[in-house]
Amino acid sequence: MKKAFSGVQPSGVLHLGNYFGAIRRFTEFQNEYDCYYCIVDLHAITVYQDPKELPGRIKDTALYYLASGLDPEKATLFVQSDVPCHAELSWLLECVSTFGELSRMTQFKDKSEGKESVSSGLFTYPVLMAADILLYDADVVPVGEDQKQHVELCRDVAERFNSRYGEAFKIPVPIIPEFGARIKSLQDPYKKMSKSDPNPLGYISLSDSKDEIAGKIRRAVTDSGREIVYSPEDKPAIANLITIYSLCTGKGFSEIEKHFEGRGYADFKKELADVIIQALVPIQERYKYYDDSEQLPEILKQGAEKANRVSSQVLKRAKEKMGLSLLADPTGRKLF
Ligand code: AMP
Ligand code: TRP
Repeated sequence: MKKAFSGVQPSGVLHLGNYFGAIRRFTEFQNEYDCYYCIVDLHAITVYQDPKELPGRIKDTALYYLASGLDPEKATLFVQSDVPCHAELSWLLECVSTFGELSRMTQFKDKSEGKESVSSGLFTYPVLMAADILLYDADVVPVGEDQKQHVELCRDVAERFNSRYGEAFKIPVPIIPEFGARIKSLQDPYKKMSKSDPNPLGYISLSDSKDEIAGKIRRAVTDSGREIVYSPEDKPAIANLITIYSLCTGKGFSEIEKHFEGRGYADFKKELADVIIQALVPIQERYKYYDDSEQLPEILKQGAEKANRVSSQVLKRAKEKMGLSLLADPTGRKLF
């Protein structure tokens, strides 16, 4: 079975973009791939996280993975900081990646822009992400469009390592959804829907109530004219709303256009709110089920045990190739 790896940061609310761009697809992969899904708390702390809030966010993220249909029998779910090999391989890879290539990462440029001071972890963040992926010999990495450049960096670093030190890593391929890869803000269709948006009207959180969803859709920006047509160039806001409608219902764009022919934005928005609610209510119910059942600590414990087993073998392979000490190797293999 081929392997898939992906991660989500526990750094705030999860929204429709995370769900359609990433988490929902994870559940689709679990039948075809040996999947590893990681809550990347070490990535989250590249910007300050309140230690009082972080545990709750980690738990929340894990519960949403499960609520979205992730089956811990089929997929390995774990928290990054429970598996020390991630940080260790990240250091080895930092010594193989270059300052220049990390400086070209657009996410770093966006996140550091205008800031007086940013952590060095924010700069080396993509290397830790490369370590995440390579430690599990992942064949594929399901992510949204915004992460493509990071997966490409991972491929470059892995290839460089392999050619410099000998084959240690499998080269992974990013899998970006054909559409839904970039859900836009409800308040600005030129920006992606983001949890760091200071205006909560821009995103629909997976935990929003029916009234909040209806209110946010009612207040979502639209374009001039009144037809419901999918035209990202001329009508970016409506195209985004049609995309969300399509993702919630599985209906194609032309079917949606036909359905709303001769009807106005108000009608469309009312139905859109309904289909989002229908998509989110079962997730919210399952979230509550998993929260009440208290299975999570055991699921994460078993996930971390498996992740530690698999990743320590790959880390050992990399250290061996680099000529580093293996005294702590659990198999007892010695360097000299
Ligand atoms: P993040 O919230 O940045 O940790 O992202 C978690 C996952 O959700 C990644 O695979 C992202 O590519 C994906 N994602 C984040 N925002 C969006 C969005 N607006 N549309 C589609 N996918 C997204
Ligand atoms: N950087 C990713 C994001 O912000 C999260 C992530 C960390 C990830 N490690 C990963 C995604 C490995 C895929 C594979 O969305």
